[in-house]
Amino acid sequence: MDTKKTPEKHLINYHRASIGHEEIEEVVACLKSGWLTTGPRVKQFETDFAKFIGAKFAVAMNSCTAALHLALEAIGLKENEIVIVPTMTFAATAEVVRYFNAIPVFADCLEDNYCIAPDAVRNLCEQIENGGKVKGLPRKHGRIRAIIPVHFGGAPADIPALAKIARKFGATIVEDCAHACPSFYTNSKGKLVKAGSEADVACYSFYANKTITTGEGGMATTNNPEYEDRMRIMSLHGISRDAWKRFTASGSWRYEVVAPGYKYNMPDIMGALGIHQLKKADLFMRQRAKIAGLYTRLLKKLDGIVLPSEKPGTISSWHIYPARILKGRNNVERDEFIERMKEAGIVPSVHYIPLHLHKYYRDKYGFGDGDFPVSEKLSSECVSLPIYPGMEKADVARVARTMAEILEGPRR
Ligand SMILES: Cc1ncc(COP(=O)(O)O)c(C=O)c1O
Repeated sequence: MDTKKTPEKHLINYHRASIGHEEIEEVVACLKSGWLTTGPRVKQFETDFAKFIGAKFAVAMNSCTAALHLALEAIGLKENEIVIVPTMTFAATAEVVRYFNAIPVFADCLEDNYCIAPDAVRNLCEQIENGGKVKGLPRKHGRIRAIIPVHFGGAPADIPALAKIARKFGATIVEDCAHACPSFYTNSKGKLVKAGSEADVACYSFYANKTITTGEGGMATTNNPEYEDRMRIMSLHGISRDAWKRFTASGSWRYEVVAPGYKYNMPDIMGALGIHQLKKADLFMRQRAKIAGLYTRLLKKLDGIVLPSEKPGTISSWHIYPARILKGRNNVERDEFIERMKEAGIVPSVHYIPLHLHKYYRDKYGFGDGDFPVSEKLSSECVSLPIYPGMEKADVARVARTMAEILEGPRR
C-alpha cells in the first residue's frame, strides 16, 4: 500500500488496474513478434495458471462467461436439465445455463458471506427429487445436472458442504471463481486449498476490475482430461486440438471440424498481460487484504453498518469489500449514501441486484419480491467500497472518513 499523501479532491474510483512495466514490455514484445492471436504466450499463461491453482489443466478463453459456457458444455448439460445457481451473483452465472435451454434454479445466500447457502441447496435438491413445488421450476424438467457456487467477492463458498450435496444428488460442481484468484478454503480433509482446485471445472475472470486482469479474459481449470479436451476444442470452432498451431511450422494445415464450436480463444496480447499479472497475484492479494484490514479498523466504530470478515478456515481474495448500510440505523439509507459518496468524489459500487429480481427472470420464471429474502436484504443494504492494489492509505482513510460524515454527520 502506498502511504504517500494525496490531495483531498481527486476522484477515488471503484477500481484501477495495476499494470507494471513487465506487462507493458511483454505486450510490446508480443506485438513486435508478429504473433498476436493464441500462441506461445497463452500456452505459457495456461501452464503457469494450472500450476498456480493446483489443477492439472487450464484452458484460456476470452472471458469467464465463455469458460462457464464451455464448462457446462463439457459436462454435457442438456435442455431442461437443472443447474442450481445463487441468485446473489452477476448475470453471467445464470445466463450460461440458459444458452442450453436448461433451467437455472436459484438459491438464497448466507447473510454473513453472501455465498450460496448449502442448506438452501440441499432443500432445493430434496424438493426437486420428491416432486415438490420449487419456485420458478417449470413442471417439465430434467435432472439436477450441476451446482454453480460463486465465491462472492473472494469469500469462499462452503465447497465441502456443497460437494457432499452434489455427490448425493449426482450433480457436478462448476465453481464460478470469477472473484477468487486466489481464495482459500479448508477442504474435507482439513487442508487449506485454493478455490477451484477441487472443482469438476472452475472458471476465473480476468476482466478489468478483477484481482488479476488481461483487460477481458477468462480461464477454465479442471483435473479431468476429457473436460479439458472438449473445452479446448470448443473454444476454437470445434476444430481439432491445438488448431491454433495450424499456421505454424510445427503444426499442420489440416484440420477437422468435430462440433459446431465457438470463438472463445484468448489472444497472445492478453496472454502477455496474464503471465505477469499472475506472478503478482499473491502480492495483489496481500495488498487487497491490507486495504480490507484498514477499512475494518477505521469503520468498526460506526454502529449502523456491518463489515465483511473472513470465516475461520478461509482466506478471501478481497476482490470486493462489501459493507452494509443497515436500514433505519443511519442518517441516510443506502441509495442516498451512494449519491453522497459520489458527490464527495468517491465511486462505490453495488454487488448485486439478485438475478431473480431482473426483468428476464421475473418474466420467464415468475419470480418476484420476497422470493429470496436474505439476498434481497443484502442487496438493499450493501455497498462495495473502492479496493485495488496500489490504493493509497490516505484514500482508504478518506473513504472511511467520508462514510462516517455521511452516516453520522448532520442531516441535510
Ligand atoms: C460472479 C461472476 N461470474 C462471472 C463473471 C463473468 O466474467 P467475465 O466478465 O470475465 O465474463 C463475472 C464478471 O464480473 C462475475 O462477477
